[in-house]
Amino acid sequence: MRIIGTGVALPQLRVTNDMIAKYVDTSDEWVASRTGIKERRIISTESLIDLGAQAAKDAVAAAGIDMADVDLLICSNVANSYVTPSLGCIIQGKIDATCPCFDINNACAGFLTALDMADGYITSGRYKNILIICAEEPSRIVDWTSREACILFGDAASAAVVTDGEGLKKIKLSTKSLPDVLYYRRKLEYNPFVTKDQGEYKPLQMNGREVFKMAVSASVADIKKVVEDTGWKMEDVDMFVLHQANLRIIDSIRQHLDLPEEKVPHNVERSGNTSSACIPILLNELIAEGKIKKGYKIVFSAFGAGFSSAAATYEWK
Ligand code: COA
Repeated sequence: MRIIGTGVALPQLRVTNDMIAKYVDTSDEWVASRTGIKERRIISTESLIDLGAQAAKDAVAAAGIDMADVDLLICSNVANSYVTPSLGCIIQGKIDATCPCFDINNACAGFLTALDMADGYITSGRYKNILIICAEEPSRIVDWTSREACILFGDAASAAVVTDGEGLKKIKLSTKSLPDVLYYRRKLEYNPFVTKDQGEYKPLQMNGREVFKMAVSASVADIKKVVEDTGWKMEDVDMFVLHQANLRIIDSIRQHLDLPEEKVPHNVERSGNTSSACIPILLNELIAEGKIKKGYKIVFSAFGAGFSSAAATYEWK
C-alpha cells in the first residue's frame, strides 16, 4: 500500500495564546513553554464538512486520479454536530464521490488506524484506491471556561489517497482501556424508562500528566517494535513523523530514542493538536517543502484517548 496524494484545509482564524488568555487564566509564556504551541487555527465561520471536502479534493487531485476512481472513503473524526449519518457520508455528497463511506473514531491515532484498515482492504484485493479524510474540530468539545485543555487543540481537515503498491512496511495498533484519563461525554436524550442516572455531559476531561507519560512510553515502545519488525535499525530511519500533541512530548520521545533533532520535524507550534488530522498535515508540509525524498525510510507514530496508539514503517516511493 502506498500514499499517492495528500491534502489539507485549515480554518482562516489564527488564535494566539494571548487571544486565549482573554478568556481563561493563562499566558503565552506558560503555554509556549509547557507545550511549544504558539498559535492554532480555530473554526469560526467555516464548516468542518467543507474543510473535509476541500482536503479530500486536494488529496485526490494530488494523487492524479478522478473522484470516480475512489473505491472507499474512510473518515476519521472524534466529534461533529451529526451523530448520524457519519461525517464521511455527508462529505461524500460535497465531493461527488459515489463509493461506500464510513467513519472511524480512534482519537488521535485515527489516521494510522485508517491506514491499517486501508492496507487490509487493498491487500485483500477488495478495493484499490482509498480516500482517508481526517476532519477534526476539538475546539467544540473543550471547555473554554477552564485553562487545562483549550490551549492544546486546533481545528483542521487533512486527507490522503492510498492505493496498491510498495510503501507501507509494518503497522501496529495498540489499545489499553483507560477511559478516565482523556474523555468527552455527551448527554443522551432523556428516556422515561431509564431508572438509573440519565448520565451527564462533560466537556473534554484530561489528566495531563498521566496522558503525557502514557504518550511517551507508548510511542517509544511502538516505534522500537515496528522498526525491529521491519528489520531496520533506528539509525536507518530518515524521518519520524509523530502525532503533534505537544513539543515536550515530541522532544521526550526523541530523547528516549536518541534521535537527532532534524529527523523529527514538527509544526505543533503553528497548528496545535489537531487530533487525527496532525500526521497528514505534517506529511503534506514535508512533501510540499521537498523534505521527503524517494527511498526515505519513515516512521509514523500517534497516540491519544483510549488509550490508543499506533506506529508504522513506510518507505517513500
Ligand atoms: N495556563 C497556566 N497555568 C496552567 C494551565 C494553563 N493553561 N494549565 C494548568 N496550569 C497550572 C495548573 O493549575 C498548576 O498550577 P498549580 O501548581 O498552582 O496547581 C500548574 O499549572 C501545573 O499544572 P500541571 O497540570 O502539573 O502542568 P504540566 O506541567 O503537567 O503541564 C500539560 C500541563 C497539559 C501541558 C501537560 O501535562 C501535557 O502536555 N500533557 C499532555 C496533554 C496532551 O497532549 N493531551 C492530548 C494527547 S493526544
